[in-house]
Amino acid sequence: MRIKSLSAGLLAFALFSCQNTNTPKTEDESPMLVEMKTGADPHSYAQENAVVKSLAWDAEVNFEQKQISATATWDIETKAGAEAIYFDIFDLAIEKVLVDGAETDFSLSPFDEHLGQGLHIPISDQAKQVSITYKTGDNARALQWLDAEQTAGKQKPFLFTQSQAILARSWVPTQDSPGIRFTYSAKVKVPQDMLALMSASNPQERNETGVYEFSMPQAIPSYLLALAVGDVYFESISERTGVYAEASLLDTSAYEFADLEKMVQAAEGLYGPYAWGRYDLIVLPPSFPFGGMENPRLTFATPTILAGDRSLVSLVAHELAHSWSGNLVTNATWDDFWLNEGFTVYFEHRIMEAVYGKEYSEMLASLTRAGLEEDAAEMLKDIPNDTKLKLDLTGRNPDDGVTSIPYDKGYFFLRLMEETVGRERFDEFLKNYFQTNKFSVMTTEEFIDYLRANLLSEEEFKSIGVKSWIYEIGLPDNLPTVSSNRFATVSEALDTYLNKGTLPAASLSDKWTTHEWLHFINSLPETINKEQLAELDAAYGFTASGNSEISAAWFQPTIAAAYEAVYPKVESFLISVGRRKFLTPTYKAMLDAGQAEMANNIYAKARPNYHAVSRETLDALLEVDKKTTKS
Ligand code: BES
Ligand code: ZN
Repeated sequence: MRIKSLSAGLLAFALFSCQNTNTPKTEDESPMLVEMKTGADPHSYAQENAVVKSLAWDAEVNFEQKQISATATWDIETKAGAEAIYFDIFDLAIEKVLVDGAETDFSLSPFDEHLGQGLHIPISDQAKQVSITYKTGDNARALQWLDAEQTAGKQKPFLFTQSQAILARSWVPTQDSPGIRFTYSAKVKVPQDMLALMSASNPQERNETGVYEFSMPQAIPSYLLALAVGDVYFESISERTGVYAEASLLDTSAYEFADLEKMVQAAEGLYGPYAWGRYDLIVLPPSFPFGGMENPRLTFATPTILAGDRSLVSLVAHELAHSWSGNLVTNATWDDFWLNEGFTVYFEHRIMEAVYGKEYSEMLASLTRAGLEEDAAEMLKDIPNDTKLKLDLTGRNPDDGVTSIPYDKGYFFLRLMEETVGRERFDEFLKNYFQTNKFSVMTTEEFIDYLRANLLSEEEFKSIGVKSWIYEIGLPDNLPTVSSNRFATVSEALDTYLNKGTLPAASLSDKWTTHEWLHFINSLPETINKEQLAELDAAYGFTASGNSEISAAWFQPTIAAAYEAVYPKVESFLISVGRRKFLTPTYKAMLDAGQAEMANNIYAKARPNYHAVSRETLDALLEVDKKTTKS
């Protein structure tokens, strides 16, 4: 590697000191550090005059070293006068850069805790291809390398990626902005007895070589790049849907997701053809930090939705819905995140209504509304600006924007529009929106214009208060209400219990589903005491529940009231599950209840099992000094 000679324009930003990057190298080998500016997207160094179009990724996955070695060959498109192309990287050791086959010097920007580094490669405006050879680092935030013991089968290790929001750059040097799309192909070498899967065309069986080839001919943004390598097998559900899981979870998973085809059909019936070919799902080990991730053609899912009774499949409807909202029409920057998630929650509820009926989907909507009101009230105290739909995440971790606001305030905004114009007009509008804007990006402002041009009259626009929904804090007065008769019955029964001490009649409660129980638990008042909790636990077995949503909900009142019988379950749950949505409220409940010591003791045991995404959130919550804690 040669030291970069700086172009005149860049000299202005140069630091004039060659420092070692995050990967140790000898003085001579260190690339030059130069200041770089972010582009149209404040979370990417990519500039619009030189952009990627297509990726050929050639990689080897090494479980001993916990490292991926790869060459990323990018076909690029330049505008006249372009002198450089910029990529995003995070803790990557760049070994070699070729531009149209000729080795070229490169430079890096100083390390930024959120953005990582910009990679500057000088090119001419005639350049067609850039090829980058590199290795991933120990701090690759997208990657979780699991030891065999952390998997269901406990025989073989596992690797999975989580690229959203800006973590793809920690395993592929990429233009890591949701506004930049590219097609890809990949050749990935893994240990011979394991299967590799990507957000692309996928194998259904192992082969003898351990080399797998992939292609994704539809253009995607880099946050949808995904890889999973593990001891997984495939089971078909319908002609175009199926599930991958470790052997011991395969049948359970196929049972749980039996309605996959019905869901795809319902979605297509609403908003037009599914654009991605197959729709498969992989059940990951329990440390997966999210419920689900909408990687194209292959949703990544947490095993905590395997409830045994299909009661948590709305998560699948959600990830499937992203095949339109998000994957076809993509938020331009993370400030526009509500365009991905709000639309998806709306679409999710519509799929659930189509497949399971309105009574069911209104229970879900009711839980959504209660959660939103609680979260918004909390956020208004400390982070009021984050209660706007349009966020301002410049200089921050885009992960800060992952709250109920883009999801559920976004959902109710769309629901209000539906209620205002009527379902028929709204569905027609959404269908056209996906069709017209497919494989492209959308800013909040473009969406507002689109809304004015294609759906709302000026009068409707004003009566809804579109601008205040999007640009003002808090929840507007016209937040749609949800009424669920089934929940009303649960609330009545709970009132009777609280006032008279009579438990709900078995004839009633025997028929309650997961969602009714969630409503019951979430509605317990703060004054509930240990004796009452013990009585409810004895009657309904909440502590022993195998349903992750029920467990997480039950931890709230029980931890608050110091109901000690739940503690062992809290500990085992937190050690085995890494899904952040469950972790954060549970640790918070311990802190709020004055149980910081318990929280820290459990965290010390559980932290090594968590993905970096969950660790970063919990380190901040529990104020762990990262330097002294082993990852
Ligand atoms: N795309 C998100 C997950 C995500 C968002 C990852 C932002 C990283 C940054 C996914 O579709 C999602 O929303 N998952 C939810 C599912 C739920 C809303 C049904 C989750 O994981 O809880
Ligand atoms: Zn989502």
